[in-house]
Amino acid sequence: MNARAERMDPGPVVCVVGARPNFMKMAPILRALTAHGGGLPHVLVHTGQHYDADMSDKLFVDLRLPRPDINLEVGSATHAVQTAEVMRRFEPIVDDLKPSCVVVVGDVNSTLACTLVAVKKRTPVAHVEAGLRSFDRGMPEEINRVLTDQVADVLYTTERTAADNLRREGVAAERIMFVGNVMIDSLLANRGIAVPAPETLRRAGCDPALLGDPARYGVVTLHRPSNVDQRETLEPLLALLREVSARLPLVIALHPRTRANVERFRLGFLLAAPPIALLPPQGYLEMLGLMSGATLVLTDSGGMQEETTALGVPCLTARENTERPITIEHGTNTLVGRDPVVILRVIDEILAGGGKRGRVPELWDGRASERIVADLAQRFVHRAAMAEG
Ligand code: UD1
Repeated sequence: MNARAERMDPGPVVCVVGARPNFMKMAPILRALTAHGGGLPHVLVHTGQHYDADMSDKLFVDLRLPRPDINLEVGSATHAVQTAEVMRRFEPIVDDLKPSCVVVVGDVNSTLACTLVAVKKRTPVAHVEAGLRSFDRGMPEEINRVLTDQVADVLYTTERTAADNLRREGVAAERIMFVGNVMIDSLLANRGIAVPAPETLRRAGCDPALLGDPARYGVVTLHRPSNVDQRETLEPLLALLREVSARLPLVIALHPRTRANVERFRLGFLLAAPPIALLPPQGYLEMLGLMSGATLVLTDSGGMQEETTALGVPCLTARENTERPITIEHGTNTLVGRDPVVILRVIDEILAGGGKRGRVPELWDGRASERIVADLAQRFVHRAAMAEG
């Protein structure tokens, strides 16, 4: 590269992913970066927080994500060690690449770790999916959200309540931009190629007849530490699933954390009943196909609350709170906690033909990534080029 070209180079946009829920958010942003003008230079960094085939590699293929330019390979550890390792390994990347900005998504440990590194080096940080609050500081993700939003430079939000939360925390209005939901960009881009549910069961070695004809089944995912880390919470939840399966066949995709605890507490017998298909963590296209055809979804995931709202499928969220209130107010989501009476009542209502219908929230239109990239280009990339040129 000659000296002039070097002077004019604003530095790449560094995009960070770490764990499963980040991948579907970053995929459309990367596509928008490639499509913007002649393409904005960018680098994809995977921290390696999630690392195995089910939790990471398969999703890269499904989402047609490019292979990461850099993998920090941090793996699993305590929160302190994982966060510290990401920081330690990300710092030389920032020194080396001199990014025009760093883009982080969501609320996992990698989101906060990379934000801290970049802001201390005066590298601008853009946080996608900012301002969501469960107001539950017992959730590690809530700590990551609050801290990331305090120090990041620009905060892209998915729903209007997020700006209210941020303003209450003293964030200046000019740092906040309502852009819509990148997760829904991915959903809309991939809905047509989702894997049909019977095919997913067949691939997992389960009998697709379990789904019924016409299909009528529930999809279940549970992985929050507050639900699955203690026997006292996990055992009644699994007993409840067994009871639900007498009303409706269930497809359960087990997160590695949950599987480990089911084994540790020897609770596998509760899920051994025939109207339950027990699957490993699913790929993006498989999960999209499963959710699209489901009668209902029971989950403690953040993202699936939004995806079911976009799909118009009733969702029961096994938590006491949600950081995504629009899925309750406008969407198909109902907070049910862990109360079996409430859960069975809501399920019976849905099976009787009721259940929330909902509508798709504002700006969940498949174009959030385009809006983000247009703003990033104008805010950081072009400005950096002008300053250096
Ligand atoms: C993380 C995120 C959470 C997100 C979830 C989705 C944080 C604080 N939490 O939680 O916000 O909703 O991912 O999956 O960042 N494991 C594997 N293979 C993997 C990854 C993890 O077996 O590829 C195992 C680990 O060894 C560990 C367990 O799963 O025992 C949990 O992983 P961890 O990264 O601690 O957090 P998650 O519960 O996945």
